[in-house]
Amino acid sequence: MDRFDVALEMITAAGAVLRQCHLKQTEIGQKTGPQDLVTFWDRKIERQLRSAIQAAFPQDSIVGEEYPPEESCGGSVTWYLDPIDGTTNFVNQHRNYAISVGCWEGGTPLFGLVLDVERQELYWAKHGGGAWQDDRPLQVSPCREIAEMLLTTPGIQYTFLEPHPRQQQLLRLAQNVRAVRSLGSVALELCEVAAGRADAFVTMRSSPWDHNAARIILEEAGGAIFTMEGAPLPLNQKSTVLGLNHADLKDQFLREA
Ligand code: IPD
Ligand code: CA
Ligand code: CA
Repeated sequence: MDRFDVALEMITAAGAVLRQCHLKQTEIGQKTGPQDLVTFWDRKIERQLRSAIQAAFPQDSIVGEEYPPEESCGGSVTWYLDPIDGTTNFVNQHRNYAISVGCWEGGTPLFGLVLDVERQELYWAKHGGGAWQDDRPLQVSPCREIAEMLLTTPGIQYTFLEPHPRQQQLLRLAQNVRAVRSLGSVALELCEVAAGRADAFVTMRSSPWDHNAARIILEEAGGAIFTMEGAPLPLNQKSTVLGLNHADLKDQFLREA
């Protein structure tokens, strides 16, 4: 099996585990506070994903949310794992959460998979092979007018309500777009832009495991991704993120935002 096949098999198995699980109150913990949760299942799924990768590709590096990074044993491939993206949704709604698996060779994308666990919809892309939702090709929206755009952001509180250097600009943007939506998962929201159901994505906080799978899917669907400063999105550090249905919109968007 190649890396993509291993990823597909392990994400499918992990999705089945999460759909069948019964989350208990005692399995829910806080990291930095009540807005930052982790569950027994986040850790269990990440261990399951890591074991599958290590068994098949022991030379690869692994960067996941819940455990320290696994350094490469001489290889150049890195996996980025978010076992549950949207843990708050997992806890409060038991829907609208994803498993995210991105695979890169150095700075070159290999493939990304984002599984919407409860809908059983798989977003995926191989570098140069287009983007897909199950067996349907994905294409970003053709919308180029900010006034007609649907903007998605995973954290209303820290995008618009917390003070940060771009707060006033983002508030102005929110007033100028057609509507703002928040699903509560970086990975799923970037896939919404890839699928043409949203036109742009912003967040002031994202980590490599949140976006390094979905960014491949967005770019393969015709979209573009930057930091909120308009710079290339880094692969290995936390960052702001601007996801767009077209790279040409960047300057207009950053002026507005
Ligand atoms: C979080 C979700 C959330 C976003 C946070 C992420 P987690 O990931 O994507 O929507 O606002 O920035 O950290 O903690 O559920 O994996
Ligand atoms: Ca996440
Ligand atoms: Ca997570």
